[in-house]
Amino acid sequence: MQKSMDQIVALCRRRGFIFQSSEIYGGLNGFWDYGPLGTELKRNVRNAWYHDLVTNHDEFSVLPGAPQSFSMVGIESSIIMHPQVWKCSGHYDLFCDMMVDCRECKARFRADHVKTSECPLKPSKHPGEHDKCKLTEPREFNLMFKTIVGALAGEEGTAFLRPETAQGMFVNFKNVLDSTRVKVPFGIAQVGKSFRNEITPRNFTFRSREFEQMEMEFFCHPSESRAWYQYWRDRRYNWYINLGISKENLRLRDHTAEELSHYSCGTADVEYTYPFLEPGEYGELEGVAHRGDFDLRSHMEGKLVKSGTDLVVEKDADGNPRHRGSGKDLSYFDDQTRERYVPHVVEPAAGADRGTLAFLCEAYQEDEQPDEKGAPQKRVVMRFHPKLAPIKVAVFPLIKKEGMPEAALAIYRDLKEAGIACYFDQQAAIGRRYRRQDEIGTPYCITVDGDTAKDGTVTLRDRDTLLQERVPAKTLVDEIRRRLRG
Ligand code: GAP
Repeated sequence: MQKSMDQIVALCRRRGFIFQSSEIYGGLNGFWDYGPLGTELKRNVRNAWYHDLVTNHDEFSVLPGAPQSFSMVGIESSIIMHPQVWKCSGHYDLFCDMMVDCRECKARFRADHVKTSECPLKPSKHPGEHDKCKLTEPREFNLMFKTIVGALAGEEGTAFLRPETAQGMFVNFKNVLDSTRVKVPFGIAQVGKSFRNEITPRNFTFRSREFEQMEMEFFCHPSESRAWYQYWRDRRYNWYINLGISKENLRLRDHTAEELSHYSCGTADVEYTYPFLEPGEYGELEGVAHRGDFDLRSHMEGKLVKSGTDLVVEKDADGNPRHRGSGKDLSYFDDQTRERYVPHVVEPAAGADRGTLAFLCEAYQEDEQPDEKGAPQKRVVMRFHPKLAPIKVAVFPLIKKEGMPEAALAIYRDLKEAGIACYFDQQAAIGRRYRRQDEIGTPYCITVDGDTAKDGTVTLRDRDTLLQERVPAKTLVDEIRRRLRG
């Protein structure tokens, strides 16, 4: 089915998944609020990621495709970090996009987006196409948001909102090693907000100025890093497939040498066919990068730059490091092999918002179902994987009498107590209630009817097969749990 972004954005607004930030004041470009259902959906995405990588990780077995067993831990680092972190990571000097200004209308555009951006002058055209447009030459624009820490004004108090969560893991590498019993290879995972002052935020939540990342830094022996890179590249692709993204809409694409970041010696993107793209085009969902020892060495020695095939500390005109590192030893000593080395890093870096957007786009479907009188009626159905669906079960009394509301409420309370996200609805005809749940992707609906009082059974309806089965009310908690696991 051909889907449009307009359909998805409209549904997100209508049913409370995503709203424009500060909407009553006209909104703020590049910022979004998650409504009640969007909050649950995004939380399920985040939880599925963290559960897969950390909570459910078994460090005692060798997972299929992995070179060996490994440990995983989580951290939560601060959003504002020491400014030197960003100087050594390269963000201070290099985290820039080329920007073009218009001297006439004062709008700013990303240089590589000029052909697809809209000039604010009417009638709607691309920048540079109006006679009045006065575009400047492209110039560098650093994407980090600046802020002031404490009462000190000026350079001394200047700090930055983190543009990625990754650096929190690098600067805590030694803390994690010293405070836990992990040994290389191991991963540190983190979910948290990141901020980028994008020149042209667009395509709904795809490119925002405030967004959430789900990043993991995997520390391993340099000689094994290629094998780990392959492992994480494939594993991360399969995570999306296992949560319902179809293979036709997802691909793994290796970066060309020109695309590689300043630190990377290999990167593959997991890409999705977002509906705002032309048919056959893909947009980034997650990047899996082989970062070598760039980050740990930069935080030890000072900002590194490439010199031929080596990384060397960048020097200023006087021969001093351009940005000094911490001077702390971030090497690892393997007490079995007696080898000391700086681990290499493989980093799967995902976006919680971009992931949520891809799951929303993938789930959106329209079909026709007969209404109460048997006439075909358009239905919007969000086919979320049950693990991601914001509400797992809706409970309805068929009518508001004969004890049905009370019986339905008792079932609703049992499900809630069992930790299953559920919803109670007794308003409108049953067909309309089903459609309301289909539109928000609830996988199961339970209806209490006249037979419930007689034989203790209820109707359990499946959103996707539309099959309705009679199930004993007493077994519902187990039955729903079984289906959600399945
Ligand atoms: N630590 C590496 C890193 O940050 P990235 O490719 O710049 O790599 C990782 O970001 C992921 O974060 C992206 O694949 C995307 O899902 C998400 N992301 C990055 N910029 C974003 C933005 N402006 N809005 C929404 N998500 C973004």
